[in-house]
Amino acid sequence: MSAGILGMGKFVPERIVTNKDLEKTMDTSDEWIRTRTGIEERRIADDTMDTSDMAFAAAEQAIKNAGLTAKDLDLILVATVTPDHPFPSVACMLQDKLGANHIAAMDISAACSGFMYGMVTAKQFIDSHTYQHVLVVGVEKLSKITDWNDRGTAVLFGDAAAAAVIGQVSEGRGILSFELGSDGSGGKYLYQEDQFIKMNGREVFKFAVRQMGESAVNVVEKAGLNKEDIDYLIPHQANIRIMEASRERLDIPEEKMIKTIQKYGNTSASSIPLALIDAVEAGQIKDGDILVMVGFGGGLTWGALTLKWGK
Ligand code: UT7
Repeated sequence: MSAGILGMGKFVPERIVTNKDLEKTMDTSDEWIRTRTGIEERRIADDTMDTSDMAFAAAEQAIKNAGLTAKDLDLILVATVTPDHPFPSVACMLQDKLGANHIAAMDISAACSGFMYGMVTAKQFIDSHTYQHVLVVGVEKLSKITDWNDRGTAVLFGDAAAAAVIGQVSEGRGILSFELGSDGSGGKYLYQEDQFIKMNGREVFKFAVRQMGESAVNVVEKAGLNKEDIDYLIPHQANIRIMEASRERLDIPEEKMIKTIQKYGNTSASSIPLALIDAVEAGQIKDGDILVMVGFGGGLTWGALTLKWGK
């Protein structure tokens, strides 16, 4: 037996903000945003939904889809850099909202790599038979830390939540290999200060292209797989050019890369699981498919894994 995904859920706010909408409020253009990033629109949450509310909506669905109840959970991990408050954690708020038992609950701060960190942490507890069911949520309300006067960042981000229940799956399925890493010397390229996201886009871009490609190749090798075995690559949806670079590094065809950046923008910790859910819901990903997930983010951090889909 190994650790895999038992059920997933997502929440995306109803409000769609298109590139054309942004053209009206800042010095940018639909053409610039599309060609430089691949983004066409993003979802923005209203004042009634904070991060924990979005996490709750996604988590409820994930637990139901796993055929479980909140009482079956043993641990809650929430990957986010936009918590409702510095503390209590979103994970603790979620424990209460879900009516889960008095189980361990904590947030993970690894920015856009957060969901990869959460999955790998969950795997340790499952593999060691410490816990049976770990809820991992990737959730961001980036709109509340977006500087709408900074066109270099404001056009990139969106709000969303995605959740997965991790537990034991049948032999050969689940997480096959992983890699996590950090380089704090690059923290200065992407951080939050005075409420807002600050970014040196070019430096983050260079790092992302290098690291995404390297980590993707590493986890494929660690799993003893080769490029022909890969059914889908699910990269962090940050910029289509960064995503393409990791695909090219793996040397796999275009149709094997899952792409949702056009409709959600960069949703940080929720981007990879959100893309995964959409592909599963669309019937694209099927039982037994080999998936490569790879992300990078502020910290700087990175994380990648290979997973054989199915229970
Ligand atoms: O999850 C991790 C989060 N971060 C990332 O993934 C970001 C990684 N970096 C990137 O995706 C890219 O660096 C950006 C999309 C942020 C920027 O693309 P770029 O090709 O690196 O553009 P640039 O920063 O080199 O800017 C090129 C030009 C500049 O004008 P000048 O100096 O050439 O006249 C910018 O001022 O584009 C201008 N520009 C814009 N123009 C229209 C920057 N942002 C915008 C904008 N609309 N929104």
